[in-house]
Amino acid sequence: MSGLLITGTDTGVGKTVVAAAVCAWLVEQGHSVHPLKPVESGTDENGGVPGDAQLLARSVGLDSWRDACVLALPEPLAPLVAARRAGLTVDQVVLDDAFVERRARGGTTVVEGVGGALVEVSAGVTVADLAARWALPAIVVAANRLGVLSHTLLTVEALQSRGVEVRGVVLNTLSADPPTVAEQENAAELSRLLPQGVPLLGTMPFVSQEGAESPSALASLVAQWGGMLFPDRP
Ligand SMILES: Nc1ncnc2c1ncn2[C@@H]1O[C@H](COP(=O)(O)OP(=O)(O)O)[C@@H](O)[C@H]1O
Ligand SMILES: [Mg+2]
Repeated sequence: MSGLLITGTDTGVGKTVVAAAVCAWLVEQGHSVHPLKPVESGTDENGGVPGDAQLLARSVGLDSWRDACVLALPEPLAPLVAARRAGLTVDQVVLDDAFVERRARGGTTVVEGVGGALVEVSAGVTVADLAARWALPAIVVAANRLGVLSHTLLTVEALQSRGVEVRGVVLNTLSADPPTVAEQENAAELSRLLPQGVPLLGTMPFVSQEGAESPSALASLVAQWGGMLFPDRP
């Protein structure tokens, strides 16, 4: 079994798009892939459906989001706040069981985090803690905008300080507008500033709506750097 946790510099930075692309690419490489969004909040904004889990499920050819999500919460809030306001608690044992069950299937489990790396997914357990607890290496999705350098370095440091292996950073393009000077400089600056052993894997271009929903289009965006995600794989 192998696995990967996909976290990011913030919420809304492209974790789901990158996770779906990685899942689709792994499937194209012939792997059996189990996407997992442990907790997703904000289903009210999407007709009661957790949109991240739905996109992840589709990226590997699953019909239902239910196999890719453990707990879906209505309000678009931090998981523990959304759970409290829904009269629920997030049980870490249930999350652990869901992960263990996928691991037992073999193949590759791809876990999308929630928000940034230090968001709590259950009481006292952050996304970064999940990676450590489940012995998953991580990649960091960084939003290519002014401010990303510090956010990325902080995220990598938080993961590494918990013993998580960071396999690299993906710089994601969130706008179709011509890049600003900061956006043009960020890749080179990140390459210079990231700690040794943590590469800038690649830059994710801005994708069209159709592209974001097409597994083969998403997979093609990972082709250049996907091989660096699992260096020990034959
Ligand atoms: N590379 C990209 N090209 C086009 N749109 C993107 C890209 N990355 C993210 N988006 C859009 O930005 C929004 C946030 O991305 P998402 O992957 O959901 O972020 P996160 O999972 O980090 O919250 C979504 O509407 C998504 O479709
Ligand atoms: Mg997401």
